[in-house]
Amino acid sequence: MRFKAIAIDGPAGAGKSTVAKLLSKKIGFTYIDSGALFRAITLKVLKLGIDINDINSIIKHAENSKIDFINNSIYLDGIDVSKDIRDDIINKNVSYIAMIPEIRKIIVNIQRKIAKNKNVVVDGRDIGTTVFPDAFIKFYLTASVDERARRRYNQYSDKTKYSIEDIKNQIIHRDYIDSNRESSPLKQADDAILIDTTGKNIDEVVEEMLYNISMKGGI
Ligand code: DC
Repeated sequence: MRFKAIAIDGPAGAGKSTVAKLLSKKIGFTYIDSGALFRAITLKVLKLGIDINDINSIIKHAENSKIDFINNSIYLDGIDVSKDIRDDIINKNVSYIAMIPEIRKIIVNIQRKIAKNKNVVVDGRDIGTTVFPDAFIKFYLTASVDERARRRYNQYSDKTKYSIEDIKNQIIHRDYIDSNRESSPLKQADDAILIDTTGKNIDEVVEEMLYNISMKGGI
């Protein structure tokens, strides 16, 4: 039996992880949050105090890391880091770690290994283009930058820390790095279905995906 992968790509704040989680639950697939893998390596690098420009050391530590998903939580070297990887300091540094081709290779391999014996829904930036080019179906989610900033802002419990404008600028900066790096940049695959989630709620987006899946003959 061949296992199926559903690819969901798009820029920061497009709603990928929320819909990917819900979609995977509805269809009984395993969810892989590929951004969490980059975030876990970034956390390790920062915790160890490795210079962000010391590529060789970053690669060495990434190669020696044990990263697992257990019940939608991410474990780094046996410790649940699901919360820590969402810290601001990770948001600010993760795109630099994600630029390193060797790191991308390590993370592609982790994802392909998981998908070897499971049906998966995977969200990220390069899933449809690089990680699973033969995915059963590919979606590219986007939304206006203002809406993406608003969504991120609403996720913060402390609303005094950043203004929506600050978050908007962070998102624009991260999108720029993600879209312009040399190694598998953020890009819509030619055969991906574009969904603009501006003004749509989670259920509407998931319904649209389920409709497209059914048009492909279902899973
Ligand atoms: O989806 P996210 O915000 O958790 O992703 C964090 C960063 O990781 C993002 O800025 C770019 C990078 N990333 C990537 O390069 N490729 C992926 N497949 C997923 C994430």
